[in-house]
Amino acid sequence: MTGVELHRGPPPVPLVGDGERVPCVDGEQRPYLSCDAAASTPAFGHVLERVEAFMPWYSSIHRGAGYKSQRATEAYEEARAATLRFAGRSGERDLAIICRNTTEAINHLAYRLRLSATDVVVTTVVEHHANMLPWSRVARCRYVECAKDGTFDLADVEAALDAGPPPRLLAVTGASNITGFLPPLDELIDAAHRRGVPVAVDAAQLAPHRPLPREADYVAWSGHKMYAPFGAGVLVGPRALFADGDPFLAGGGAVDLVDLDEVVWTDPPDREEAGSPNVVGAVALGAAIEQMEAVGWEAIVAHDREIAAGLRSALDHMAGVRLLGPDVSTETLPVATFEIEGMPHSLVAARLSAEHAIGVRHGCFCAHPYLMRLLGLGQAEVEAFRNEVRRGDRSRMPGAVRASFGINATQGDVDRLVSAVAELASGSPAPVAYLQDPRTGDYWPEGGAGPSWPGAFRDHGSTCSPG
Ligand code: ALA
Repeated sequence: MTGVELHRGPPPVPLVGDGERVPCVDGEQRPYLSCDAAASTPAFGHVLERVEAFMPWYSSIHRGAGYKSQRATEAYEEARAATLRFAGRSGERDLAIICRNTTEAINHLAYRLRLSATDVVVTTVVEHHANMLPWSRVARCRYVECAKDGTFDLADVEAALDAGPPPRLLAVTGASNITGFLPPLDELIDAAHRRGVPVAVDAAQLAPHRPLPREADYVAWSGHKMYAPFGAGVLVGPRALFADGDPFLAGGGAVDLVDLDEVVWTDPPDREEAGSPNVVGAVALGAAIEQMEAVGWEAIVAHDREIAAGLRSALDHMAGVRLLGPDVSTETLPVATFEIEGMPHSLVAARLSAEHAIGVRHGCFCAHPYLMRLLGLGQAEVEAFRNEVRRGDRSRMPGAVRASFGINATQGDVDRLVSAVAELASGSPAPVAYLQDPRTGDYWPEGGAGPSWPGAFRDHGSTCSPG
């Protein structure tokens, strides 16, 4: 691997593609502003350089005596070591399994814990689907409810831990992908451990913004939300859990010897990584960790706080806008989810994109139960929407608009988003007509001065805001 100059100054750190110009409906090209870091972040320049430097050495890992296989295996194992370091673990007690993303990591863990239908997992209504659906299909979930502002506290979790029957696991998010709410993780982990309950932390949102909880038993996160969008994620947990039994994925690379009636599984972590591992994704993730270490948590957290405060207080004070989630005085990630009175969320997102070159996410953000609570929807309303969706009509799907920022954000970016939202909230008329596709719920600009609007989602028949 070649040595690469790391960025060492304070954030913001530019990302690949920043400032790229995109067409708007008035025929102008504007620099694209991505306000969707909570879904996926562009790459660090350092990540791209590392990947490019690695590509000439790309080869099958763990499967070859060739020189390139040795080099590629070394790069992959260095990346694995970086993930353990990032999670504050030693490789003796814990191991890191390289997988696709947080969703896969949590499904992997749910399989490996060998829960049964009568086992209880304490989790919360704040979770996104990746930390809800894998548990609810193998065990009984006992959900910690949230208050109207989308938060819960230590006492709420303790009550769920103490209710009978005793839980096998506490599965909790490190930070909400909708409100940026930061549960008191250290206290929750301590409370669970005092009761002998292990803790799994979904760190998909936490990993790019705050140090990972060292005391959690299991931690899962994704490279694509922390500046390494090359398809790798991680599950960290105690080696002992993976030492016996069949792995989540069965196949080549996970075994020592196979006969038609018997399999000798190899040692973890290889046992848990059947099939050809994503070596490029791992190299990218390792490089992202190096870059984050070079910037340092102090600078990252200070930058996050500044962006979060500017973003949330501007939207909170804006006429015609309702900010969802905790009070602006509560510390959150740099995420703001909001509604504009009288304007469907999908139209807000379409107008921000087509008129302002701003990319936000809208809809329910893969966390339907939480968003229904934040919107204050009752059971009957949810049932009515469910029936409409079953009939293929998504035109009234509930939802909101989310702006989320990462390490590259400037206050100028926040100002640009805020002034575009203010323009829409003021009732300023759209320069073109927008038509809604009832199958997807999305709005599309019709006409305009520019080239015809790209409609990849529309042509594909899928929605911009899936669950
Ligand atoms: N990737 C999902 C999001 O955008 C969970 O928040």
